[in-house]
Amino acid sequence: MNHTPRRRTAALAVASAISLLTLSSPTAGAQAPTVAAAAPDVPVANVQAHLQKLQDIATANNGNRRAGSAGYTASTSYVKSTLEAAGYTVTLQRCTTCDYPSDNVVADWPGGDASKTYMFGAHLDSVSAGPGINDNGSGSAILLENALQLAKANPTLTGHVRFAWWTDEEQGLNGSAHYVKSLTSAQRGQIKAYYNFDMVASTNGGYFINHITTAAAAPMKAYWDSLGLQPEENVEGAGRSDDYSFENYGIPTSGYAMGASARKTSAQASKWGGTAGSAYDPCYHSACDKYPSNINVTGLDRSADGLAYTIWHTAVDGGGTTPVGGPLANGGFESGATAWTGSVSRITNSTGRPAHTGSWKLWLGSHGTTTSEEVSQSFAVPADAASPTLTYWIRIDTAESGSTVYDKATVQVNGTTKHSYSNASTPKSTWSQKTIDLSAYKGTTITLRLAATEDSSLQTSFVIDDVATSF
Ligand code: TRP
Ligand code: ZN
Repeated sequence: MNHTPRRRTAALAVASAISLLTLSSPTAGAQAPTVAAAAPDVPVANVQAHLQKLQDIATANNGNRRAGSAGYTASTSYVKSTLEAAGYTVTLQRCTTCDYPSDNVVADWPGGDASKTYMFGAHLDSVSAGPGINDNGSGSAILLENALQLAKANPTLTGHVRFAWWTDEEQGLNGSAHYVKSLTSAQRGQIKAYYNFDMVASTNGGYFINHITTAAAAPMKAYWDSLGLQPEENVEGAGRSDDYSFENYGIPTSGYAMGASARKTSAQASKWGGTAGSAYDPCYHSACDKYPSNINVTGLDRSADGLAYTIWHTAVDGGGTTPVGGPLANGGFESGATAWTGSVSRITNSTGRPAHTGSWKLWLGSHGTTTSEEVSQSFAVPADAASPTLTYWIRIDTAESGSTVYDKATVQVNGTTKHSYSNASTPKSTWSQKTIDLSAYKGTTITLRLAATEDSSLQTSFVIDDVATSF
């Protein structure tokens, strides 16, 4: 499934809008995004085929793919030959300092500025207890399919892209540590960010991002935010996977994970589904970490597509700089004014009114004097969305009484009012979730506007939070 904020049709819509503007502004077309900038839909079936292959390898080799074992060597051969068939030059780097000496697989896609290298990695080894399909066939397989998709699309690159599959992670991050140490400091300085993919399809998982608030994490987060997933910091996995080997040398890192043996909280089960009180991956480091039973295909797909989005937004020409048509961002207002324009001082963490989740929200009204406030944001609705919808939560309280309308709020799409509220709206002082069907806007960039007016006396507060899209 593809949830990538598509630019193709949005670009056409923008281009035609610009041709009208051209009458007064002949250079406006220079900013039109290019068709080539869109990240691909990574076919999850292809990712699943790689996982089947890794399962078959384990089955044929004593049930595991532990570093240094026959199952591990067969895994490196599969990754290497698949990459070579797609045009990659693949290096096997012997990890001599590993507990089980064996090879890292490193593959560079030719092109881009090597002084801006973006690395994407996953550990390829399993524990000896089992085939290691979620840990970490899942990260290995989305990485492999992304490498193939990059070769197939062959976009013009600004940054340089390097993929790596690490050995001996399970014995202490040894393969990746060996690799980073083997680089010169000049070579390390060329790596602008390292992205890690470890356990990205946990059956009872959540949506976790390493160093979620950093610049490196921004495209990873923007993609999952665009799906309304409300990702959280990867607390459980901190310092426990190969990103830590890069972090130790001061290289910015991020990554996706769906979780290991820690248990899902009830708050997490409410927002993501699954079973509260159970491990994110009940088969962590066990014989039952098998394909297909221990793979969450939805999570696998979302991770694969977010990885593609991140490759495109870091290293592909035009892939991350288009002025319009990105996903909805900061819908929970937790990043303050980020991505919103207008009366952004009304985005607040004031304790005067509760947030729906987190502490920040949009708090329109409340003045009891004549005011008019609004915030807006533009974002893309994918052309191939099955049922695009926008949701948000609203909570209204007022000092007015009776059914006469004095203070009002509207939620608009492209200037059309979708929902209206007032001091007379019910329910009061409680949150309700509202939905807007966006089917009519597929393949376009739309502007969402949240606005309120108050008359000269008696406050009404319209508090809005957790604006999200789903496609
Ligand atoms: N897979 C690694 C391990 O076995 C790292 C890890 C542990 C991890 N817990 C995690 C990765 C949680 C992501 C999320 O130790
Ligand atoms: Zn592990």
